[in-house]
Amino acid sequence: MNFYKIARPILFRLDAERAHDLTLRGLRIAQRLGITSFLSPGHSKEPVKLMGLNFPNRVGLAAGLDKSGNCVAGFGSMGFGFVEVGTITPVAQEGNPRPRLFRVREHEAIINRMGFNNPGIETALDNIQKSRKGFEGILGINIGKNKKTPNENALDDYLHCFRKSYTHADYIAVNVSSPNTSGLRELQTPKFARELLSPIMDEREKLKEETGKSVPVAVKIDPDMGTDQIKELSELFIELELDAIIATNTTVSRDSINDHRLSTETGGLSGSPLNEKSNEVIAKLHTELKDKVPIIGVGGINSKEDAQEKLSAGASLVQIYTGLIYQGPSLIKELAEL
Ligand SMILES: Cc1cc2nc3c(=O)[nH]c(=O)nc-3n(C[C@H](O)[C@H](O)[C@H](O)COP(=O)(O)O)c2cc1C
Repeated sequence: MNFYKIARPILFRLDAERAHDLTLRGLRIAQRLGITSFLSPGHSKEPVKLMGLNFPNRVGLAAGLDKSGNCVAGFGSMGFGFVEVGTITPVAQEGNPRPRLFRVREHEAIINRMGFNNPGIETALDNIQKSRKGFEGILGINIGKNKKTPNENALDDYLHCFRKSYTHADYIAVNVSSPNTSGLRELQTPKFARELLSPIMDEREKLKEETGKSVPVAVKIDPDMGTDQIKELSELFIELELDAIIATNTTVSRDSINDHRLSTETGGLSGSPLNEKSNEVIAKLHTELKDKVPIIGVGGINSKEDAQEKLSAGASLVQIYTGLIYQGPSLIKELAEL
């Protein structure tokens, strides 16, 4: 039975953020009762080796859905081979005022300006420790900076979260691409990116010696940068020996939904209208990175064919968020067969 076919019309009648909260609450309860696997059992094919880790399949949950780390095993039992929690910042913050999440249904898209609402790193790690019990996939922790921290001090925030997360995460994703924290994307300019990523990679070496564990570091980039910036950043990623690039975050462009009444809402656009744009970035990255740094492809995946296009453009793994909202958990099962 496709449970989501019944649930979706009910959820879509609710305000988008309320539907989101209710779903996560339900998943959390189901997870506690140990009944989440009935939703959609995982169908792993061959494990995929990437960043020195063994991924049970190629499909992951993109950052932003489990911002608090409360539902890791719940999402795992829906079939995800990996789950990326966050974005998490050093201190708890509420994010932007509501409404801040909009369904653009005609385009199978979402506009969000959540603004890193999250419980802060300490609480999130407590949550993760509890909710990952029984999870057999790979856990990513996605880190960012607090809104009140100026870019000059951003490194302190990232290093704080990096150190705290280190022994909990299978990989850590450095998010410098959300459009909803003012100035964050400036951290992707090659100068800032070096000042941020180089000390993080040095810190990894230190922590590796201290703990005996080497945690891979991924960077998440936006889909709105030009070819020159992709080229320059790729050179930096190769030089610093980053372990993966996650491409892409949401777009600030409205080109593909210009006629829609919600197109003037500020925030990042995800889902179908992002698909092609993210594929273009993946393809350019793939050319520049020359297989030296692997790519995790994300943006607008709604079907197996969409995911296959990302793999053909050069991604090794894929992640979904908006596609899960529109298609339901059966999409995970389909993608796990890739
Ligand atoms: C409501 C919402 C919140 C998001 N929050 C985050 C976040 O906190 N950190 C992050 O790195 N990406 C965040 N994202 C971006 C997604 O991880 C993903 O990169 C993007 O939505 C494109 O994938 P999709 O088209 O499958 O949704 C968010 C996306 C949505 C829709």
